[in-house]
Amino acid sequence: MAIFRHFALVPLAFLCAAARAFNISRTDNIMAQWGEISFENSLATYCDGTVDLFTLGWLHYSPTALPSFASPTIPGASCTGAVFPNSQLADCPTLSTDITACQSKGVAVLLALDPGSGAVTDWYTSQASARAYADQLWNLFLGGTSNTRPFGDAVLDGILVQAPDAHITTGNIEGFPAFFDQMRLHAPIAYGSKPYILAARMICPVLDENALSAALNTTSLDVVQISVAGHDSLCSVAHYDNKTMWNFDRWDRWATSFSLNKGVKLYLDVPSYSDGYNSYVNATRVAQIANETHMHYPNTFGGVSYWDSAHAVQNDGFNVALRDALRLPEQLPSASPSGSQSITSPPDPTIGIPAETKSTAEKAISPILILSVAIPVTAVAAFILLATFWLRSRKTRRESQIRPYGRRRLKHLGVQGTGQIPAKPSSGEGVSSPPHKTFL
Ligand SMILES: *[C@@H]1O[C@H](CO)[C@@H](O)[C@H](O)[C@H]1NC(C)=O
Ligand SMILES: *[C@@H]1O[C@H](CO)[C@@H](O)[C@H](O)[C@H]1NC(C)=O
Ligand SMILES: *[C@@H]1O[C@H](CO)[C@@H](O)[C@H](O)[C@H]1NC(C)=O
Ligand SMILES: *[C@@H]1O[C@H](CO)[C@@H](O)[C@H](O)[C@H]1NC(C)=O
Ligand SMILES: *[C@@H]1O[C@H](CO)[C@@H](O)[C@H](O)[C@H]1NC(C)=O
Repeated sequence: MAIFRHFALVPLAFLCAAARAFNISRTDNIMAQWGEISFENSLATYCDGTVDLFTLGWLHYSPTALPSFASPTIPGASCTGAVFPNSQLADCPTLSTDITACQSKGVAVLLALDPGSGAVTDWYTSQASARAYADQLWNLFLGGTSNTRPFGDAVLDGILVQAPDAHITTGNIEGFPAFFDQMRLHAPIAYGSKPYILAARMICPVLDENALSAALNTTSLDVVQISVAGHDSLCSVAHYDNKTMWNFDRWDRWATSFSLNKGVKLYLDVPSYSDGYNSYVNATRVAQIANETHMHYPNTFGGVSYWDSAHAVQNDGFNVALRDALRLPEQLPSASPSGSQSITSPPDPTIGIPAETKSTAEKAISPILILSVAIPVTAVAAFILLATFWLRSRKTRRESQIRPYGRRRLKHLGVQGTGQIPAKPSSGEGVSSPPHKTFL
């Protein structure tokens, strides 16, 4: 009975799953900021097929204690306000459920780091503090272990570092490349083949104009969000038609000629509502600009990101409108009756699996699977065979004797055998159980 119910749920789970798994190679990805706005909804509510990649934040650095979010309660996360001892870091295991629910639908979730104020105590002002911060974040949010993990067993899919605004970049930022280098030491494997995404968020005029370009050039990033917003920014989407200031070309050149990772993807980062900075354009217009940018820069353009999820929904469903405008009709979940790509492609099973487990799992999965099926099958078959022969020979030897449990035992052995064989591989060889301890 229970088995039948489980089988009935399988197609349902497939249909409920998001349209597709986040795939960094695509050029129509949608990324959104979550967890910052007072009227925020739960993360899981937004994992409805309109967003491929969330940034969760912002996390603030502390030179003397654990880092912390703006508030221990994290908007939308149903946190109790509990914090870890001697810190303001939210102890928020409830968010773990939402994160893993989104990941199981193929949505990736990154931790977004606050840019800081440029104070001498900020983590990026020295290489040593940057590396230490990378280690700490690895243990708190990614594949490491700690007894102060804010989201428990949930393993985020990467980190986004918001670069400080141009006006403070005269300060020392030598920690930026060191931070990313250190993160790469922890997460060296490519996505897809690459479990962890390293991303940076820059404002559009910044490239070439300060030392950040040096940091970006020497770092292997997967994604760079280019903020094309802001009232004083002539390179914003609102001024897209003024081609003297629209500078995607320079970013493209950086990506193809200077970036260590020549496969780095550039996202246009736009406001999701009239932000008061005169840089808002509606979803149709964003999609149009994305389309043209994609046509001109097919190798570097990765998609659109927006700030933020709560405002997007409130703004007459900007999230849905953008998704519908950005994607070809056959990629939309409701559109084509065949719906092939959107509904039948299962989520990337590797998203959300910790790096060590994932890399070993990926390499080892087929041999382990084969062995874990082959060994018990062979053993049980041999056992049944031997048992059959033994019982037969016993029967022929003592023909007149009555064996009280003879047949039944044989039948029971058979049942046991067939019942256990399929159960073994699905019990997972540790693939689905993350290696870290919770703080509980
Ligand atoms: C990811 O997207 C690229 C480009 O569209 C495609 O070639 C590749 O097959 C996709 N990978 C998966 C796992 O869907
Ligand atoms: C276009 O940008 C230039 C600066 O490069 C500025 O002088 C000009 O006023 C802008 N034009 C419009 C129509 O915004
Ligand atoms: C970084 O790349 C930019 C191209 O966008 C280039 O102009 C600059 O010289 C590079 N900086 C370094 C330090 O290599
Ligand atoms: C979106 O903005 C464009 C101008 O950028 C305008 O022509 C269009 O009517 C707007 N669409 C909607 C649905 O408001
Ligand atoms: C851009 O839009 C045109 C139609 O206006 C379409 O043919 C083309 O496939 C779109 N390109 C991309 C990259 O979305």
